[in-house]
Amino acid sequence: MAQAVTSSQRDLDLQHLWHGNMQHRGLEARPPLEIAGADGCYVVDADGRRYLDAMAGLFCVNVGYGRRAIVDAVTAQMGQLAYYPLTQSHGPAARLAARLAGMLPRGLSRVFFSNSGSEAVETALKMARQCARRKHPGQNRYKIIARHRGYHGFTMGAASATGQSPRKMAFEPLVPGFLHVPPPDHYRCSFCSSQPACTLTCADEIERVIRMEGPETVAAVIAEPVIGGGGIFPAPEGYLERVRAVCDRYGALLIIDEVITGFGRTGKLFGFEHAGIRPDILTFAKGLTSAYLPLGATVASEEIFESFYDDGESDAKFAQVSTFGGHPSSCAAALANLDILTGERLWENAAATGGYLFEKLRGIDSRWIGEIRGRGLLIGLEIIADANKTPLPEARMVQLQRAIREAGVLVGRNNDSVPGYCNVLILSPPLILSREQADTIVSAIQAALAKL
Ligand SMILES: Cc1ncc(COP(=O)(O)O)c(C=O)c1O
Repeated sequence: MAQAVTSSQRDLDLQHLWHGNMQHRGLEARPPLEIAGADGCYVVDADGRRYLDAMAGLFCVNVGYGRRAIVDAVTAQMGQLAYYPLTQSHGPAARLAARLAGMLPRGLSRVFFSNSGSEAVETALKMARQCARRKHPGQNRYKIIARHRGYHGFTMGAASATGQSPRKMAFEPLVPGFLHVPPPDHYRCSFCSSQPACTLTCADEIERVIRMEGPETVAAVIAEPVIGGGGIFPAPEGYLERVRAVCDRYGALLIIDEVITGFGRTGKLFGFEHAGIRPDILTFAKGLTSAYLPLGATVASEEIFESFYDDGESDAKFAQVSTFGGHPSSCAAALANLDILTGERLWENAAATGGYLFEKLRGIDSRWIGEIRGRGLLIGLEIIADANKTPLPEARMVQLQRAIREAGVLVGRNNDSVPGYCNVLILSPPLILSREQADTIVSAIQAALAKL
């Protein structure tokens, strides 16, 4: 139940909170929504106004809000063991690690817990570098290849892997050794937008870069199965398979960042399953607990783990420790969340309702829509100003997003991510979305576009 907002609450926010990626000047006139309660696919603001949350928070409340079973599991865990670090062990972390291993392809079975997606990625990058040094003594394998428009997090390593300059420029110089190649963006691709389908030249670029840099300097390639915050670019058919083959050819590890795509969002449990490949390292956060509590996980293959295993002559270990990583309450939340996800087979609803939503969006007759792309319940609408595909300017994107919000639906957009191309509306609702709710999203977008 939403609690009434007091003006002092808003004042406290304005006086003391520092919001990320937000210009605070003028915030008094347009304060952020103050969310006071939530249930299912809906959030309620402090004035009692209800919104359909078509972003599931920030791509994360996969099972929807208000799930009592998760709250009860966390409460029970808090009562039994509020905290212990993984410098020793505890049941919730061990059970969750085993549960994840059971959901993944054979051999992807070593789990390192942290607190967020950025930390999960940071861990993967460090694991890859240390592993490369152990597996290839005498070589200097430290470089990481990532894609422009990809997002991997805010910490220095994860930001270095990120391919969005506005998210990085202010903090440069970042971590050395990160290289970027073009993303699979068929709509605007300089290799193949004139062809009917992606020619996978962007995947071949990874091989070209590895050869030019020297394979003995490359530790890993990192990729999201669907680029998310950067504007929704699903890996086209054959793309991840080709990247996997390139990694194998040159001895580079393949890190698949499933922070958004993991746990059902794309219509399968994991995004990489669409390609049928086996990554070397996976990163998870968001949907792992449906954001009921913070938790990140980095899953490595047994081969990687074994490269750290002490052979009796060296004291090999992964040189990292996390105070809160694998917190018992977060692991309990994750276990209860996975019970719901698998019990209700929510990836199937993501595929079915996602397909329905996609078709309905395609039915909108609007000159502002350049392209609609996505997978499952992760969909982007590229908004253009004219027939030359000129991106709608960001100020007008803000207007559009606000008009949709006025209609009672919260959608995302790739704000401040790619200079000149922050023109993608993003939908990533809870995986419990119904067809009626999908219709509501479509109507709100359609009406806002008509008024643009
Ligand atoms: C693909 C991907 N990786 C990593 C992150 C970072 O996660 P967090 O915000 O939990 O640090 C995000 C966040 O949106 C993401 O989309």
